[in-house]
Amino acid sequence: MCGITGYIGHRKAYPIVINGLKRLEYRGYDSAGVMMFDGDQMHLSKTKGKVSDLEEITNKETYRQEGNIGMGHTRWATHGVPNDINSHPHFSESGDLVIVHNGIIENYDTIKKELITRGYTFQSDTDTEVLVNLIEEVKKQEGCKLGKAVQIALTQVIGAYAIAVFDKTKPNEIIVARLGSPIAIGVGKDLGEFFVASDASPFIEFTKDAIYLEDEEMAIIKLGKEVKVRKIMDDSLVDANIQELQLSLEQIEKGGYDHFMLKEIHEQPKAIIDTYRGRMLADEGIIKMAGVDDNIEKFMNADRIIIVACGTSWHAGLVGEYLFEDMARVPVEVEYASEFRYRNPIITPKDVVIAISQSGETADTLAAIKLAKSKGAFVFGVCNVVGSSIARETHAGAYTHAGPEIGVASTKAFTTQITVLSLIALKLAKAKGTLSNSAFHMYLQKMQLIPSKVEKLLQIDNKVKEIASVYKDAKNCLYLGRGFNFPVALEGALKLKEISYIHAEGYPAAEMKHGPIALIDENMPIFVIATNKGHYEKVVSNIQEIKSRSGKIIAIVTEGDVTVKEIADHVIEIPDTEEALTPLLTTIPLQLLSYHIAVMLDKNVDQPRNLAKSVTVE
Ligand code: G6P
Repeated sequence: MCGITGYIGHRKAYPIVINGLKRLEYRGYDSAGVMMFDGDQMHLSKTKGKVSDLEEITNKETYRQEGNIGMGHTRWATHGVPNDINSHPHFSESGDLVIVHNGIIENYDTIKKELITRGYTFQSDTDTEVLVNLIEEVKKQEGCKLGKAVQIALTQVIGAYAIAVFDKTKPNEIIVARLGSPIAIGVGKDLGEFFVASDASPFIEFTKDAIYLEDEEMAIIKLGKEVKVRKIMDDSLVDANIQELQLSLEQIEKGGYDHFMLKEIHEQPKAIIDTYRGRMLADEGIIKMAGVDDNIEKFMNADRIIIVACGTSWHAGLVGEYLFEDMARVPVEVEYASEFRYRNPIITPKDVVIAISQSGETADTLAAIKLAKSKGAFVFGVCNVVGSSIARETHAGAYTHAGPEIGVASTKAFTTQITVLSLIALKLAKAKGTLSNSAFHMYLQKMQLIPSKVEKLLQIDNKVKEIASVYKDAKNCLYLGRGFNFPVALEGALKLKEISYIHAEGYPAAEMKHGPIALIDENMPIFVIATNKGHYEKVVSNIQEIKSRSGKIIAIVTEGDVTVKEIADHVIEIPDTEEALTPLLTTIPLQLLSYHIAVMLDKNVDQPRNLAKSVTVE
């Protein structure tokens, strides 16, 4: 939930650390800090606020030009409010050690009390300061090196962490460790230099070689030496697996767009193609997905499918429920991972669990997977981030191949998750014989047309902008949809809430009369998805009910619609397709609408308040 960067080598550390923090800011942005070591002294700057606020402070510092070792942190507060003191890095009592940390130390209070009895004092309210002092105390007690002290200390903590620790008395190494929160080490082989980061984006222009630590592993990174990776619990050496990164610099830059969110909305036609490329051979009538093919019996014999996810991924899961039930005739339950993991759910070895996660790091989804596995279920992951914790923890899976998603409000992750779920549902339906051959072929052909239809929809941006300008000052909004488009209504409302802070609710259109109808008056904008095949007449009746209560209707309809056009205040047309595929289209104008409203309200689109892209805490 926080972002960590670090560097040890021969280059100036400051620009690497600060630019790295900017790339990791999606992970948290309530405070930021850096530590730079000039060969003699450690210099610390930290502040509440964003990396740009930190830069204003560091601009005056001469250490920017000095030192080849540094670390940085961008925070999403857990223990202790966001303020200058609680910001990372944190020093140990003696001032010799410094740490940056992503995660939560659950037993910090017990350890803190013990350390206080030994004379330690604490400046901040954080669990992190407790951890660095515990490491210092172990080092003192055992008379050992930093690496050993980190290892012993970590056997005493309960919780989750990705940490980087530095000792100014042994300034040729950085120790990193992981449990539950990701950490990558960039290996600059020729120069014997190393980069440390929560993901590879901070060092992509310097090296393509990276080591991703597994849970309960730590690494000793020594200048000019090979990285040593050890198991924290038994101290055994592990082979450091150097992977070649596929990421490129363009993928993590804005590429001429004002915001990452807008760039990512516009990337959807390509992202959807990348998701089905090599998997869906429409002309041959084949869907190849190794993770499904290798486990087809499990899918075919499943009593039911349980989908676990959070946030936008949960909404994609709801679309999945409609797809699997409609096409493959298998019962589906869609669960919030956070509820599922704690309510003693009934899971059997005949269940297939599908875990959906853009980041592959969401703590609740990860815990739900572990629970399902412990009950013998087969767990299939749908992740975007390659090599992420969820991708590794699941028995099999399919990547969405959407490319890096940096805007906190998820867009292309959603449509690519739906694409993967559609492919699996179709494949399963074919294998089970629940969909006729001709229907299967027809779906593949129609799926192939979706990217160009999304492209076409993106061209109505100006119209959506106009509608956004009319409703940007609304205090509340309602989003209604039915069937496949009910989850899209939920997602539309979530997008608006997340980035514009306007209260919005998504509802099944027919449920409106059981509550939300009471809210409708002339000030209430209501976004209704009324595509031609999705219970159209019923939704038209709902629209009439809204109209007769003076609500403002913005309808998303299929091209050529006549009836709704006459009643609604505004209509946005989507190209025609099969009803099951409409979520891939209806969601696009709702994303654009939220984006434009947030821009018009001068909100921070890519980094909305209090949110973070990857939630690695419960
Ligand atoms: C956070 C993000 C959302 C995301 C959710 C689940 O809340 O802000 O955009 O949908 O986490 O994340 P995941 O990475 O598991 O899809």
